[in-house]
Parts: sequence; structure tokens; C-alpha cells
Amino acid sequence: MNELNDVVGQAQTAFEQAATPADLENAKALFLGKSGRITEMMKGMASLAVEDKKSRGAAINLAKQAIETALSNRRQALADAELQVQLQAEALDVSLPGRQRGQGGLHPVSITLERIEALFGSMGFDVAQGPEIESDWFNFTALNTPEDHPARSMHDTFYVEGGSATAPNLLRTHTSPMQIRYAVQHVKKHRAMIDAGHSMPEIRVIAPGRTYRVDSDATHSPMFHQCEGLWVGENVSFKDLKYVFTDFCRTFFESDDLVLRFRPSFFPFTEPSAEIDIQFQTGPLAGRWLEVAGSGQVHPNVVRNMGLDPEKYIGFAFGMGPDRLTMLRYGVNDLRLFFDGDIRFLSQFQ
Ligand code: DAH
Repeated sequence: MNELNDVVGQAQTAFEQAATPADLENAKALFLGKSGRITEMMKGMASLAVEDKKSRGAAINLAKQAIETALSNRRQALADAELQVQLQAEALDVSLPGRQRGQGGLHPVSITLERIEALFGSMGFDVAQGPEIESDWFNFTALNTPEDHPARSMHDTFYVEGGSATAPNLLRTHTSPMQIRYAVQHVKKHRAMIDAGHSMPEIRVIAPGRTYRVDSDATHSPMFHQCEGLWVGENVSFKDLKYVFTDFCRTFFESDDLVLRFRPSFFPFTEPSAEIDIQFQTGPLAGRWLEVAGSGQVHPNVVRNMGLDPEKYIGFAFGMGPDRLTMLRYGVNDLRLFFDGDIRFLSQFQ
């Protein structure tokens, strides 16, 4: 009996010491395998008397069961340990903050441009886009600013190679060339109607976009934005321009007691010409006159370059600076902030 107890104890120890399932199977073979200890003992019973066989057989069976129990316990323990290791390795730290995908937003000047488009759109103005690389003809000559005109010196710009007076040769200095481009298309579309003596549908358009000049300080950037406006018809007057622009400014700045002033000025493509100043009655800018646009009655030479008879058609135009409108609306005092791309500045407009 002692011998059997010893074998069971040895098996338990061997199984306990097996560190892997493979070790355990090797240990199992030592006791339960074909030539294992228990199997050898069974074989040894052959020589016993019948009575002894019974009791010896029962004892060996008990020992065998004890060994099998130890074996399956150890198997389970090893499997549990393995699972534990795997779980540890694949652990998720649910307390880690998630990786965020930052919410994008519109640039403050884009917000202004969308606002301008929506407001003028609601007053029946079309929105047109034009090329930033422009020809001398559209940028200057067609706008009554011939070569050597002194007004050109205020519009120093970047010239591109390979252009000519009529092929693209410069970065446009203002959005005013869009007056000509848009009007010419409009007239072309309605040519038959005009030739038959009917009234042409009025031209009412704004043209926002990027413009360029050799200029750089706190209030000037070599690239800046403008928005052109043009209204041409048979019966349009300064009064209409004044009404539309006043309405626009009051809605844009959400201020009903904002007042406008049309101050005489000069532009080659308008006659008479005026600067439009606004004045807030309340708030941090109250009482100061702030220049927001140039404007005027379209010069007869320009009306002619649009393909229209200046005796019949009269037009009004304006050109404003969306960058400046954005600065005034949000109280920003340095234009360069808009173009530095600093997310700390830009995220404040979302
Ligand atoms: N293009 C002018 C500039 O950049 C602004 C301007 C003035 C536009 C008068 C106009 C206008 O349409 O009528 O200085």
C-alpha cells in the first residue's frame, strides 16, 4: 500500500512541476503510459493468487484514479494560466482618453464671404467667379485705365511670364475685371433681345475672390480679398446703390442704427466716384468713420467695353474688402492673423 501511496505522491509532484502542457504529457507517460508505473503494476498482478488479485487490483485502480484526477487538475490549471497570460497581453485600458478627430471649420474670411453671398443673393444678385491670373486688358485697359495711366501705380502687382496685354499676364489687383467679364457674357446671352430693341434683363452680380498687390503690413497683405458688385440697367440710380449697400451693411453687422456716408473720390472706371464709409452708433467702434468700399457710376467707356450703349444703359459698381469687414465684425486689429494659419486664432471663429 505504501508503495502505491508513494507512486501517487510522485505523480502529483511530477504533474505539479510540469510547467507546460507538453511537460505534463511527458510526466503522464511516466505513470499512465504503456510502460508507465501503474501499467507495470497491473502487469505484475499476473503472478498473484485470485484473492490477492482482487484486493491488489482495487488498490491499483484507486491509485490510478487519484493520478488521473491530479492530471486533469493540472491540465486545467495550466489552461487557466495560459488564458490568463493571453488576457493580460490583450488588455484594453478603458481609462485611456480616446483619440480625437478635431472638428474643422470655416476660415473667418470664408464665413464673411458666405455671408456676403447670402445677403446679396437674397437681393437678387448673381455670384460670379473669375480668374486670379488676369490679362492687362481686363484688369486695367477695359476699366478705363490705359497704359501709363497714373492710377496703375497704385496697383503694382505680380506679373507672370509669357503673357501679353490680352493673354493672362498678371495677378489681378482687384475684382473689378469681373465687371467686364460678367457683363460681356450677359450681353452676349441677350444679344438678340437687345438688337430687337427689347430691354435687356438687368445685370446684378457680385464677384468675390482673391486679389494681389505688392503691399505688406498690419493692414495690407500681398494676397487679400475683394468683393465686386455691379448693377446695370436702364433705370438704375445712385439711390438704388445707396439703398442696397445700406441694407447690406446693416444686415451684415446686425446693427440697425449704422449710418453710411458717400465721400467723393476718384476711380478711373467710375464717374462720379465715392468711398463708402460706415459709422456705428454703439459698441467699441462707435462714432468713427470706417471706410469699407469704393463705388461709383460706371464710366461710359466701361459701359461701352461691356458691349452696351452708355446713352441707354447706366450702371453702378462697388468694390469692398471682405478682410476688413471681417476685422470690423470680430474686432481683429491685425490683418496678418488671417493668413498665419495659427489654429489658436482660427478656432475662435467656430
Ligand atoms: N477696384 C477698386 C480698388 O481696388 C475698388 C472699387 C472702387 C471698385 C470703385 C468698384 C468701384 O467697383 O466702383 O481700389
